[in-house]
Amino acid sequence: MAFVQTLINSLAVKGRKILRFAGVPLDIEPNAHDVLVPICHLHPYNLPDIQKHLLSLNAQDRYLRFGYAANDEQITHYVQSLNFKRDEIYGIFNRDLQILAVAHLAIYDNENEKELKQISAEFGVSVHASARGRGYGHQLFKRALMHARNANASTILIHALSENAPMLKIARKAGATLERDGSETQALLKVPKGNLRTLMAELFTDQYAQTNYSIKEDVKNFWYFMTQVQEIRQGVRAGRHQSAE
Ligand SMILES: CC(C)(COP(=O)(O)OP(=O)(O)OC[C@H]1O[C@@H](n2cnc3c(N)ncnc32)[C@H](O)[C@@H]1OP(=O)(O)O)[C@@H](O)C(=O)NCCC(=O)NCCS
Repeated sequence: MAFVQTLINSLAVKGRKILRFAGVPLDIEPNAHDVLVPICHLHPYNLPDIQKHLLSLNAQDRYLRFGYAANDEQITHYVQSLNFKRDEIYGIFNRDLQILAVAHLAIYDNENEKELKQISAEFGVSVHASARGRGYGHQLFKRALMHARNANASTILIHALSENAPMLKIARKAGATLERDGSETQALLKVPKGNLRTLMAELFTDQYAQTNYSIKEDVKNFWYFMTQVQEIRQGVRAGRHQSAE
């Protein structure tokens, strides 16, 4: 398995170098291991995995993520109401294609006849307890910001509890204004306008994530195939022993 990890990591490093060589601007920096974390778009077929990830959060994390101690039923309802057409849902997968982190960028289009069309966004994120402190939360926010720029959103809002030090750090680092109201803090980030450069960056970031996912899928299928072959060989060997007795 160490071999597979090395293979995936080196492909990630190579992918980053190729993108840089091709002159593609990367708004998302690599992590401490110089690896660009692949952030995938999640789709309705990922709903069971999103639900599994959110249900794995403990009571305190659920409180921090949703602003209240969400029970299993409330989480299930939240998952079922995700709007994949309007919003962006991102995920980070491990090499076994299990979800380690999920981010939700809700897009609000405040269009009415009198006012000018104004788009705003709201960000929420959760990282599995075993994967915290690796910069995933920060990288998911950067990915969401990239999209918000290209979607012409003017602001991104984050509702966080005032005790949520890592989340507030992510928001502050991005330049958001923090407004504390007792136990809650609202972080508001003014989104710079997107341009051709950010559009290209988003396109290539997605392509890179998709390629990385496909490689992990192929590696997983390969190991599954090898396990099946091994089982068949063992079965044949056992059959030979039996017939020889
Ligand atoms: C908030 C959360 C998403 C952060 O995810 P993460 O991947 O661990 O965060 P990162 O590794 O990107 O760290 C972000 C910053 O917070 C800092 N940090 C991490 N844990 C910290 C802690 N316990 N106290 C203070 N700072 C902390 C990191 O050092 C980093 O700062 P840096 O960039 O200056 O080094 C994660 O803790 C989580 O899922 N919490 C439960 C759900 C939640 O709170 N969601 C947010 C509400 S919308």
